[in-house]
Amino acid sequence: MFFQQIADGGCQSYIVGCEATCGAVLIDPALGRIDRYLGIASREGLRIRYIVETHTHADHFSAARQLRERLDAPVVMHRDSGASHVDMHAEDGHLLAVGDLRLRIMHTPGHTRDSMCIHVDDRVFTGDTLLIGGTGRTDLPTGDPEQLYDSLFGKLLRLPGETLMFPAHDYKGNGHSTIAAELETNPRLQKKDRAEFVRMMRGLNLSAPTHLTEALRTNLTGGKTVRQLLSDAAAETPFISLEELSARLGQQRNDFVILDVRERDAYARGHVAGARHLARGQLELKVDETFPDPDLEILTICELGKISTLAAATLRQLGFHRAVALDGGMKGWREAGYPLDHGEDPALMI
Ligand SMILES: [Fe+2]
Repeated sequence: MFFQQIADGGCQSYIVGCEATCGAVLIDPALGRIDRYLGIASREGLRIRYIVETHTHADHFSAARQLRERLDAPVVMHRDSGASHVDMHAEDGHLLAVGDLRLRIMHTPGHTRDSMCIHVDDRVFTGDTLLIGGTGRTDLPTGDPEQLYDSLFGKLLRLPGETLMFPAHDYKGNGHSTIAAELETNPRLQKKDRAEFVRMMRGLNLSAPTHLTEALRTNLTGGKTVRQLLSDAAAETPFISLEELSARLGQQRNDFVILDVRERDAYARGHVAGARHLARGQLELKVDETFPDPDLEILTICELGKISTLAAATLRQLGFHRAVALDGGMKGWREAGYPLDHGEDPALMI
């Protein structure tokens, strides 16, 4: 059996393959590791047959939708998953056949309604149902401590003690554990009485994971994360440095305009000399009257350089094919000690 664990911060994903047939399965891929998965599969000569998600993740961004197209492999999730991009729903007791490997699906609701563990040979991939020294939380959407109790004590922990367990998260670098070791040392599993376990889980009082809404939104719909949106915009936009802009200020070029896309009060507090003002929110509707000539080189500026990148990409899509964004934004401009102007938009003074 080919096996590789791939960490992305504390998130763990896995490639499990059949050496005889070179078929493989990718479990819980993360958005930040797409090139790594593709690289490993290619280096090892593996064909990914299935992309399996152990559950709807609320705390990291899944790469399932992107990889499904790149790998031409179906996304497999439990029947109770609400994700729109699932190709194949699996249920408790179903087997995924990958060459000679048989991966057995165990439905283990509790952390989420759609949680499942995947048992193959000597190991089990536990998602967030069972973590090393912990369990998944049960206070997020579709979580249920009663169900988690049943999934753990009635199902998962009945696997042979020597079964290796590989979780979807491991922040301490332990990598893996065994069912027996967890039964013995995992603090949450010491509450073997149902009511006590449920009371403990309800009393955890955990803070919400960062990016909860964004993770659920993108993982359920296959939509883009904000970072993806920005990196897509950046990929189709060139940039100008602070130094280059400074050098251009004295040049009086007719085909170069600076466009500050921040809100009016931010513009009034100080902008680059000669910058026009058109807030990002008005851009599409007012750009034609502001810039009748689509051949202008329009430099967009915002506070941090993100909104201006989106604005420049939008301008390019609209046909302003020389649009470019300021690398570093007004924050960088001020911090580098370049001068600020407080006057009105020059076009309004004509
Ligand atoms: Fe999770």
